[in-house]
Amino acid sequence: MQAYEIAGPTRLFGEVTIHGAKNSALPILAATVLCRGRCFLRNIPEIEDVHTACLILQYLNAEVRRQGNALYIDTTYLKNRPIDGTLAGKMRASILFLGALMGRFGEASIALPGGCPLGKRPVDLHLCALERLGAQIEVQEDRLVLTCPFFCAAEIRLPIPSVGATENILLAAGCVEHETVIVGAAREPEICDLAEFLQKTGAVIRGVGTDRISIIGCRRPAGTIHTVIPDRIETATYLCAAAGCGGELTLYQTDAKLITPVIDSLEHAGCRIESEAEYIKICASGGLSMPPDVVTMPYPGFPTDAQPVLMAALLRAEGACRFRETIFEHRFCHAEQMKRLGGNLTQNADEVLLRGTDKLIGNSVNAQDLRGGAALVIACLQAEGKSLLTGVKHVDRGYDNLEKNLSALGAIIKKVEISP
Ligand code: UD1
Repeated sequence: MQAYEIAGPTRLFGEVTIHGAKNSALPILAATVLCRGRCFLRNIPEIEDVHTACLILQYLNAEVRRQGNALYIDTTYLKNRPIDGTLAGKMRASILFLGALMGRFGEASIALPGGCPLGKRPVDLHLCALERLGAQIEVQEDRLVLTCPFFCAAEIRLPIPSVGATENILLAAGCVEHETVIVGAAREPEICDLAEFLQKTGAVIRGVGTDRISIIGCRRPAGTIHTVIPDRIETATYLCAAAGCGGELTLYQTDAKLITPVIDSLEHAGCRIESEAEYIKICASGGLSMPPDVVTMPYPGFPTDAQPVLMAALLRAEGACRFRETIFEHRFCHAEQMKRLGGNLTQNADEVLLRGTDKLIGNSVNAQDLRGGAALVIACLQAEGKSLLTGVKHVDRGYDNLEKNLSALGAIIKKVEISP
């Protein structure tokens, strides 16, 4: 199994080009199922979750070819086949193929999704919403079997603004010619990106970026060309790495407006950040002090995916900061591991109280989820001496070239093979 060997402490200097957003690429890859034709998708990160989505498309008889950072996908001759757990179980976003296959074929059979173990991550909202659109869904052991004899016009109210459920509704409705309305929709930028893709294929969508979205699909969506938005969580990760380690980084092909709450916290902590249309520059020269308490919220609030990396950045800051997690129930696995490096963290239900410590000491730590894994990389880079981070398969699911990029910035990090 693979692990990261990291030697610290280190400061980071240089430039990073941010990749396309994982959380846009995945729903858009599912959306290609609706198109009876060719799509050319630019700015697609080379990460495990994208690889899994491509394997699902190929299994469904799509032609998929990578050309640099772009993917060419031809779904003309797609076949509806049952997707089993070896593919669907690799990531949470496989659930998006349920809506997409419903949209194209009116039928789907797919094993329950996998993904990061962040507590109960039910799919009830997805299923209720698809049922309101006319689907009949049976849960057979570990598999969802969907049939949809007739699509219904519906107004669907989401009790919480679920990102995935909003996307699944848009996907299922993408081929339906009457109006579907989502009330209580998620407003994340990645939803806007999916909506823009669907609009290019022929759908008429209003209210994107608000909590009330309406979509009138198109019976035969066309293939199209699309460039995925920058990954705001990868952006936050490099900013937090620079903040925690100290140094100066310029991030290109990204957009500061997508992560305003993270930038606010880092500026409060003492980092100097400047941004223009396509770059963000961070300078973290001295000791940080704790920003106001962090409460994760749906967009445009503080993103739950950036909570672990900000916590890592602040491990050595002066003062105390409370982190409250309101989106996922088990999103503090990294906190226990950070304690192994000397971090002073106290967890209480949905809160972690972080008190800054003078120094961190290298140790062996284990990543249990994607963003928690990235946070542990940032923590190990600040720790004195050698650290060994296991569980890097989680990090590979969502980061394109993390260790190569960090090495180019001055970090001492390498991937090693260790016996389990
Ligand atoms: C997406 C992102 C993930 C991010 C999360 C919140 C992708 C591929 N993943 O995940 O990186 O952390 O948004 O911004 O885009 N819920 C239910 N029932 C459901 C669906 C969700 O109770 O049917 C709950 C979840 O358990 C969670 C909350 O709703 O507590 C929000 O989840 P959701 O917005 O659906 O997240 P994902 O789409 O899974």
